[in-house]
Amino acid sequence: MLEPFNAAHPEHVALFDEMPLWSSQAGALLLDHVPLTARRALDLGCGAGFPLLELAERLGPGAQMIGLDPWAQALSRAARKIAVWPVPQAALVRGDGAVLPFRDGTFDLVTSNLGVNNFSNAAQALRECRRVLSPGGVFAMSTNVAGHFAALYDALETVLRRRGDDAALARLRDHVQHRGSVGTIATHLQTCGFRVQATRTREVAWRFQSAQALFTHHFMRLGFRDGWREIAGADADAVLAELARELDAHAAAEGAITLTVPLVVVLAQAE
Ligand SMILES: C[S@@+](CC[C@H](N)C(=O)[O-])C[C@H]1O[C@@H](n2cnc3c(N)ncnc32)[C@H](O)[C@@H]1O
Repeated sequence: MLEPFNAAHPEHVALFDEMPLWSSQAGALLLDHVPLTARRALDLGCGAGFPLLELAERLGPGAQMIGLDPWAQALSRAARKIAVWPVPQAALVRGDGAVLPFRDGTFDLVTSNLGVNNFSNAAQALRECRRVLSPGGVFAMSTNVAGHFAALYDALETVLRRRGDDAALARLRDHVQHRGSVGTIATHLQTCGFRVQATRTREVAWRFQSAQALFTHHFMRLGFRDGWREIAGADADAVLAELARELDAHAAAEGAITLTVPLVVVLAQAE
């Protein structure tokens, strides 16, 4: 008999947390399209357990799903979720995607939400995914692609042009182009031994009341703000202040600053 959710139990309440919007929106796209026939699955870069636990539960009893990540603290959080919900078909391994501790052909599904394509050793990790998949096994990878936050990067370009800062404009171009497109991701997968079966895209939008709301949002500080400062260079404070004025002008005209994020899930088969 499973213990019911107890709203007065501190640990149950602690686990009743929302996914960060960023993870959940890309993960929802993955969950909408991932094949559910798998019995042995791996979630690479599972962090604190997403989509590992969600997918393991949807695969149901009889399936086994392992989450792998080098991040010990996130894994201990995932371990509590596995124990408390509980999700007995999920297990955890601490490791590096570039040297997977599994035999060839162990899995019939490998997933990675906002993971493998961003690893420092992405190509080697993709080859490892291919190796641990059985022939015909499916790799499902979800990520944001080039074009994300276009309104912000366009406004930054306007600011940098006005300042005549060509070096910063070059850094901005590199920063924007560095993010893959659906096409470059598909090509990368092909060179690592996969046949791309399908790509599914979705655009989501994040709306902010003002530049201050955007710049102080916890996830913007965690994932993005340092990158914007690096683009701006030595005069980052002044550039970001100008960027804020530019974005606030948009908010005044349109009611909000709207940052769109194109997402893709790529389904590829191990050849
Ligand atoms: C953006 S987070 C995504 C986490 C989770 N999948 C989610 O959707 O919330 C990227 C994850 O990849 C993990 N990671 C980074 N390098 C890795 C590697 N070489 N092998 C495996 N995981 C790695 C990080 O520790 C982190 O948990």
